[in-house]
Amino acid sequence: MVKVNENYLKLKAGYLFPEISKRVNNYTQANSNSKVIKLGIGDVTEPLPKACVNAMGEALNEMGTNNGFKGYGPEQGYGWLREKISVNDFISRGCQISSEEIFVSDGSKCDSSNILDILGDDNLIAVTDPVYPVYVDTNVMTGRTGETLQNGIYQGLVYLAINEENNFQPEIPKKKVDIVYLCFPNNPTGATITKQELKKWVDYAIENKSLILFDAAYEAFIQDKNIPHSIYEIEGAKNCAIEFRSFSKNAGFTGVRCAYTVIPKNLSGQNSKGDKIDLWSLWNRRQCTKFNGVSYIVQRGAEAVYSSQGKKEVNSLIDFYMKNAEIMQKKLRSAGFKVYGGDNAPYVWIKVPDRMTSWDFFDYLLEKADVVGTPGSGFGLAGEGYFRLSAFNSRLNVNNAMERIINI
Ligand code: MLT
Repeated sequence: MVKVNENYLKLKAGYLFPEISKRVNNYTQANSNSKVIKLGIGDVTEPLPKACVNAMGEALNEMGTNNGFKGYGPEQGYGWLREKISVNDFISRGCQISSEEIFVSDGSKCDSSNILDILGDDNLIAVTDPVYPVYVDTNVMTGRTGETLQNGIYQGLVYLAINEENNFQPEIPKKKVDIVYLCFPNNPTGATITKQELKKWVDYAIENKSLILFDAAYEAFIQDKNIPHSIYEIEGAKNCAIEFRSFSKNAGFTGVRCAYTVIPKNLSGQNSKGDKIDLWSLWNRRQCTKFNGVSYIVQRGAEAVYSSQGKKEVNSLIDFYMKNAEIMQKKLRSAGFKVYGGDNAPYVWIKVPDRMTSWDFFDYLLEKADVVGTPGSGFGLAGEGYFRLSAFNSRLNVNNAMERIINI
């Protein structure tokens, strides 16, 4: 009989968000009058920017003509989109990232998992705790961890707690790790990192020849001008970091699918003989073999994000969701909750009251208020006792959800 990848059997439970959906479906089936408001998964709710819709419409029509038809595009993404990304997202912030260093893809979730393809199995890997579960699960799936211990921790990973005591800033590990995942603005806590703090990580990575996998999927939500949007704003980062970016949350592309990954040309790892190997070439090789690029239509939609109309529309989407976050912070604080995040990120991270567990609080909110959030423990052991609410929803739903919570 065919043998399975037994690493999958080490996974603790189903993936967090389908698990939540399953529980919510069971609840709504048993309570058919319930009007559940979902502030669980961070999925956008507002329509796409018109600039993107128009650009995709035009691209679609173009594809229906003899002259405009296109087959496979470049695996790395079309040059015109990579150029716009380079100029608008990096050069404008003083980061010397060229269009060649940008690989357009169908999502940061996929890229942050697929990157493991080009990295050795015997690297020591650090993640924050709590953490976006994809980083941990994909390391488990690819056999880079040991078994899970009783408390849900995987052997072989280094966990860096982020909590109220350290202001949700991971401490630099005492020992050398080879790879560290950092996500700022942070999912799930909504915390941010200053340039000074991020510089400590870049210095650590350079000194230890480590690689930082920097997830900046939420950078567009940063309101504070002093907070870095990209790790490449820190000197030296091109020698030690890969960055993941996405159009999902800024332009509402969660259902359209477009993202990109930056692999600087001078970034390298080593083989077992100690020879320097350039990561850009390995990733390029991987993408050419395993990926056929993002559709032309979608890439034209992403390009429109950088048009003047697109920029205006994206800004108003960000303002809209950040206003939701502000409403959530205010209402929850007025109801006595301890609230973190939500200032520069579309997530608020609240302390669970009355010594409930995160999943108890999930059930409590669902049953008493018909509101869905995400239990902090779903993001890791140190997330226990916390709860994440997403600001991605209509104003009406956010207002109603907050009224229901404060009136329980
Ligand atoms: C989340 O809720 O954490 C996000 O939607 C996950 C994702 O972007 O994949």
